Amino acid sequence: MAKLAFLLKQLCFIVLLLCVSYTRARYCRTVPGDPSFPSGDEWNSLNYSLSGRLVKAVPSAEFCDMHGGCTDAEWTSAVFRANIPGAMNQVNWEQDYESIPPSICERNSTDCGQGDVPLYAILAESVQDVQAGIEFSSTHNLRLAVKASGHDYLGRSTARNSLLISTHMFQNITFVDNFTVSGYDEGSAVTVGSGVPLNTLYKAAKEQGKILVGAVAATVVAAGGYIQGGGHSALSPLLGLASDNVIEFEVVTANSTYLKVNGKQNTDLFWALRGGGAGSWGVVVSATFRTFPTFSATYSLISIAVNDTVAIGSIMASHAKHIFDWDDLYVGQYFYAYENTTANAYMLALTSYFPKTSSDDASTALKPFLDEAKQFGQIVSQLSIEGNINDEVTSVDDAVGFNAVLGSRLIPESVYHDHPDTIGHVYTQLFNAGAVAVLGHLVAGGMVSENGCIDSAVHPAWRTAKTHIVLPNIWEDSTTLSNISLIQNTFKNLQLPILEQIAGSPGAAYSNEADSLEEDFRTTFFGPNYPRLDDIKRRYDPMDLFIVAAGVGSDRWDKDGLCRVD
Ligand SMILES: Cc1cc2nc3c(=O)[nH]c(=O)nc-3n(C[C@H](O)[C@H](O)[C@H](O)COP(=O)(O)OP(=O)(O)OC[C@H]3O[C@@H](n4cnc5c(N)ncnc54)[C@H](O)[C@@H]3O)c2cc1C
Ligand SMILES: *[C@@H]1O[C@H](CO)[C@@H](O)[C@H](O)[C@H]1NC(C)=O
Ligand SMILES: *[C@@H]1O[C@H](CO)[C@@H](O)[C@H](O)[C@H]1NC(C)=O
Ligand SMILES: *[C@@H]1O[C@H](CO)[C@@H](O)[C@H](O)[C@H]1NC(C)=O
Ligand SMILES: *[C@@H]1O[C@H](CO)[C@@H](O)[C@H](O)[C@H]1NC(C)=O
Ligand SMILES: *[C@@H]1O[C@H](CO)[C@@H](O)[C@H](O)[C@H]1NC(C)=O
Ligand SMILES: *[C@@H]1O[C@H](CO)[C@@H](O)[C@H](O)[C@H]1NC(C)=O
Ligand SMILES: *[C@@H]1O[C@H](CO)[C@@H](O)[C@H](O)[C@H]1NC(C)=O
Ligand SMILES: *[C@@H]1O[C@H](CO)[C@@H](O)[C@H](O)[C@H]1NC(C)=O
Repeated sequence: MAKLAFLLKQLCFIVLLLCVSYTRARYCRTVPGDPSFPSGDEWNSLNYSLSGRLVKAVPSAEFCDMHGGCTDAEWTSAVFRANIPGAMNQVNWEQDYESIPPSICERNSTDCGQGDVPLYAILAESVQDVQAGIEFSSTHNLRLAVKASGHDYLGRSTARNSLLISTHMFQNITFVDNFTVSGYDEGSAVTVGSGVPLNTLYKAAKEQGKILVGAVAATVVAAGGYIQGGGHSALSPLLGLASDNVIEFEVVTANSTYLKVNGKQNTDLFWALRGGGAGSWGVVVSATFRTFPTFSATYSLISIAVNDTVAIGSIMASHAKHIFDWDDLYVGQYFYAYENTTANAYMLALTSYFPKTSSDDASTALKPFLDEAKQFGQIVSQLSIEGNINDEVTSVDDAVGFNAVLGSRLIPESVYHDHPDTIGHVYTQLFNAGAVAVLGHLVAGGMVSENGCIDSAVHPAWRTAKTHIVLPNIWEDSTTLSNISLIQNTFKNLQLPILEQIAGSPGAAYSNEADSLEEDFRTTFFGPNYPRLDDIKRRYDPMDLFIVAAGVGSDRWDKDGLCRVD
C-alpha cells in the first residue's frame, strides 16, 4: 500500500509538473504573427481614440536615415533624441544582440532590424491617452513600455515587440506656496509633468526664487524614472534624496485608474514609488516636489593627472581620508577617475558643489586634500565659480549616443572612516583590471542619513552610505558580438569582486545607475523592502503589465518580459 501511495504521489507530481510547465510555458505576451495580435483596424481604432497620436517607432539610426542623416552633434544630443519616439540615449538598448540572427540597427547602416525598439509609441498628451494605451495593452495582452527621456542605463524604457507610452509631452509646471494634502499644508512645492527635463525645471524654479532636489543633468526627467529610483543630487547631503522631498504623485495604474498618491491616499503605492524602482508601478503623470528658497553656491572643478594606477589609488585613498572635511558644508561631489589614453595618464575630475559658501571658503575646505594630492600627481586645471545653484546643477544638453552599461555599489560611511587605504587599493585594482572609469558620487551622508526615519522604499543602505560608485563599460559599434557579451558581463565577473572589498557582500546599489544583469537584484536594489514591494506590486498590477529589467516582479518573466518563467 505504502508503495502504491508513493507511486501515485510520484505520478501526481510528474503530471502536475507537466501541467504546470505546459500552462506556464504558454503564458506569453502577444507578438506580431500571433493570431491574437491586434489587426490593422484595431491599431487604427486605437490611433483614432488618441486623435492620431500613435506612431510607428523606429530605431534612432533608422530615424536618421529617413531624415537624410543626423550630424554628430545631433546623434550625441539628448535634447535631439528626446523627440525620436524609438530612441534610447545609450543606443545599445535599441539593439537585440541575442536573437539568432541578431536584430541590430547601427548608425548609417543600410540594413536595419527593429531590435529592442517598441513597435508603436503613444505620444500621450492627456491622462485619457495613457488610459487608452494601458487598456489596449491589457486587452490585447501586449508588452508595455513607458518612457520619459530614454536615459535609462538598464534599458528599462524600451522593450522588444512592445507598445510604448511616452510621457514626453507632459510639460506642465505649477508652483504653489501652500501645497495641501487632505487639508494639511505641506508648504511650498512644484507639480511637474513627467516629460519636463531638468534644464527647463531648474530655469522655471529660478524665476520663482526656488530650488528643488533633482539630478545634476540637463535632460533627465525628475518626475520619470529618476524619482522612482530614489533620486540623488548634489544637494542631497544638504536636503536629502529627491524621494525624501516628494509630496504627491498622479499615476495611472494597471486597471487604468487615475490616482492621487500621497501620505494620506494610496499610501502603500506612495511608499513604493519612492525608491521601489522605475517603471514597475503605473504611468506617472506628475510628481510634486517640495521647493526651497534658492541660494548661491560655489561650483568647483579640479582636474588632477597622475602617472599610473598606483598613483590614482594613492590619490583616492587620500580623498577617502579627507571626505569628511566637507561635511560641515554639506558638499555634494562627483569624483570621476578615468584613464586618459592620449596622455597615457589617469585623471581625477573633482566637481564639488558648496551650498551657501563663498569661493574663498570652498578653497580653504579643499586645500588639505589638494596639498596631499600634489604628492601623487599634478593639478592640471582648477576652476571655481560662485553663482546661483539652479544654474550650477544643470546645463543645456547631455552628451549621449554611445554604447554603455553600468554596474555600481553604495559604499558605507564606516568604510571611509575605517579603511580609506583599502578604497585606494580598490581603485588601483579596478584600473589594473582594465576599467576605463570609476565614477564616484558623494551624494549621501548629511540629510540623507538624518532622513533615515522616513518610511519609503528607499534601500536602507542609503542611510548609512557615504558614496555611490559606478563603473561604466563601453564599446564601439564595430565590437564583435562575443566581445559585447564579455563587456556586458565585465562588472559582474571582474569588477564586482574587487568592489566588494569596500562595498561588502551582499552589498547595495542605486537601481537607476546599475547593472541590469545584477545576480540578486532583489537584495542589491531593494534589500529588506522587497517582500513588501512585491506584495504592493501584486495588488496594483496583478497581471504584471509594468515589467522592467531587474524591477519588482521581473523575476517572474524572461529577459525580454515577453513570457512568464515561473
Ligand atoms: C546625464 C545623466 C545624468 C544623471 N544624473 C543623475 C543624478 O544626478 N542623480 C540620479 O539619481 N540619477 C541620475 N541619472 C540617472 C537617472 O536617474 C536615470 O537615468 C533615470 O532612469 C532617468 O529617468 P527618465 O525618466 O529620465 O528616463 P527614462 O529612460 O525615460 O525612464 C527610466 C525608467 O523610468 C520609467 N519611467 C519613465 N517615465 C515614466 C513615467 N512617466 N511613469 C512611470 N515610469 C516611467 C521607465 O519605464 C524606465 O523604467 C543621470 C542620468 C543621466 C543620463
Ligand atoms: C495615426 O493617425 C495619424 C493622423 O491621422 C497618422 O498621421 C499616423 O500615421 C497614424 N499612426 C499610425 C501608426 O498609423
Ligand atoms: C554617419 O553619417 C553622418 C552624415 O549623415 C556623418 O556625419 C557621420 O560621421 C557618419 N557616422 C558614422 C559612424 O559613420
Ligand atoms: C496640464 O495643465 C492643463 C491646464 O491646467 C490641464 O488642463 C492639463 O490636464 C494638464 N495636463 C496634464 C497631463 O496633467
Ligand atoms: C502658506 O504658507 C505660509 C508659510 O508656510 C503661511 O505663512 C501662510 O499663512 C500660508 N497661506 C495659506 C493661505 O495657508
Ligand atoms: C587627456 O590628456 C590630453 C593631453 O594631456 C588633454 O589634452 C586632454 O584634455 C585630456 N582629456 C581628458 C578627457 O582629460
Ligand atoms: C610622472 O611622469 C613624468 C614623466 O615621466 C615625470 O616627470 C613625473 O615626475 C612623474 N610624476 C610623478 C608624481 O611621479
Ligand atoms: C575581443 O576582446 C579581446 C580582449 O579584450 C581582444 O583581445 C580582441 O581583439 C577582441 N576581438 C575583437 C574582434 O574585437
Ligand atoms: C483599480 O485599482 C485600484 C488600485 O488597486 C483600486 O483602488 C480600484 O478599485 C480599481 N478599480 C477598478 C475599477 O477595478
